[in-house]
Amino acid sequence: MFRIGKHEARFPLIQGGMGVRISGGNLAGHVAKCGGVGLVAAAGIAMNSVFYNGKNFFQADLEAFKEELRKAYAIAPDGVIGVNVMVALSDFEPLVKAAIEGGAKVIVCGAGLPLSLPELTAHAPDVALVPIASSVRAAQLIARTWEKRYHRLPDAVVVEDPDTAGGHLGEKLENIATGDYDQYATVRAVKQFFRDEYQAEIPVIAAGGIWDRKDLEEALAEGADGVQMASRFVCTEECDADLAFKQAYLKCKKEDIGLLMSPAGLPGRAILTNFDNVRQYDLDQHTVCRMNCLKKCSYKESGERFCIVSALDRAQRGDVESGLVFCGTNAWKADHIGTVQEVFDELFG
Ligand SMILES: Cc1cc2nc3c(=O)[nH]c(=O)nc-3n(C[C@H](O)[C@H](O)[C@H](O)COP(=O)(O)O)c2cc1C
Repeated sequence: MFRIGKHEARFPLIQGGMGVRISGGNLAGHVAKCGGVGLVAAAGIAMNSVFYNGKNFFQADLEAFKEELRKAYAIAPDGVIGVNVMVALSDFEPLVKAAIEGGAKVIVCGAGLPLSLPELTAHAPDVALVPIASSVRAAQLIARTWEKRYHRLPDAVVVEDPDTAGGHLGEKLENIATGDYDQYATVRAVKQFFRDEYQAEIPVIAAGGIWDRKDLEEALAEGADGVQMASRFVCTEECDADLAFKQAYLKCKKEDIGLLMSPAGLPGRAILTNFDNVRQYDLDQHTVCRMNCLKKCSYKESGERFCIVSALDRAQRGDVESGLVFCGTNAWKADHIGTVQEVFDELFG
């Protein structure tokens, strides 16, 4: 059994949130049904939804988010279903509230420090709060702030490895893939910090580059209490992305995966073979920021780079020519589209 706050999953596995409806209700529901923790990601969830009419992004975001949670619970009524909400989103606060209304049992927050999260969720004390940190310092800052202001500690911490994880990364570009970062030393140091400072056993979950049973066993042997895996779940039938998005994983080679600077001001990891087209698309379409989806965005402010949410949304819908395909360093290992159950059988069977 894997305890996360007041909730228990059969297996120590969280399916990482993947924005823009790559982990929607279908994937999250099936992961929860198989005994993991399934996460619906909030980022850009309005985009490919029936609720969005081109003008009501924030309202549609909340409606679409709750709708995906409903879908997930229809698949796994007793499952541990939660959400991923990026702190960098303009509507971070209403999305957290909507997650609670939608019955999320776990809220995972990265892409910024979720310093006010316990305040936003004070009316729902059973919801487990799980920050993502890529350094001991970030985990300490969050824990000390929460404890001081709200007398609450995280229910778990996800330690995300910027050298391997997909999507936006919590480390400066120049510090990524330098060989300096030690994922499991960070996991153990975060664990030890909670023991020393609060005499608390807080589950620490390793994320980034975990693909197969060997990786899972290594993570547990190195001191992690569980793992968060995202890229591995893309090539499943249940993943909410278009087939062409999954095929981009099947086709990509190791050397096609790399780093880019997102207009969010964070580095990101993606398939880079079509990256020139991503920027060109906005130039050709004379795109301007319509959604205002991020608190800070260099595209919104000065037209620099490209519109990230539109680029990710195009890929999710199957336009992998001009869309941006986020992925972890292991995505090239995908060799077929299977089921979520097959992934669990391989990992835990
Ligand atoms: C397509 C894709 C989209 C992602 N979107 C988000 C997101 O919206 N929020 C977030 O916190 N992390 C996001 N991530 C990061 C994952 O949740 C996860 O922590 C990371 O990818 C783990 O590494 P792995 O893909 O090697 O398993 C995304 C990753 C991928 C591959």
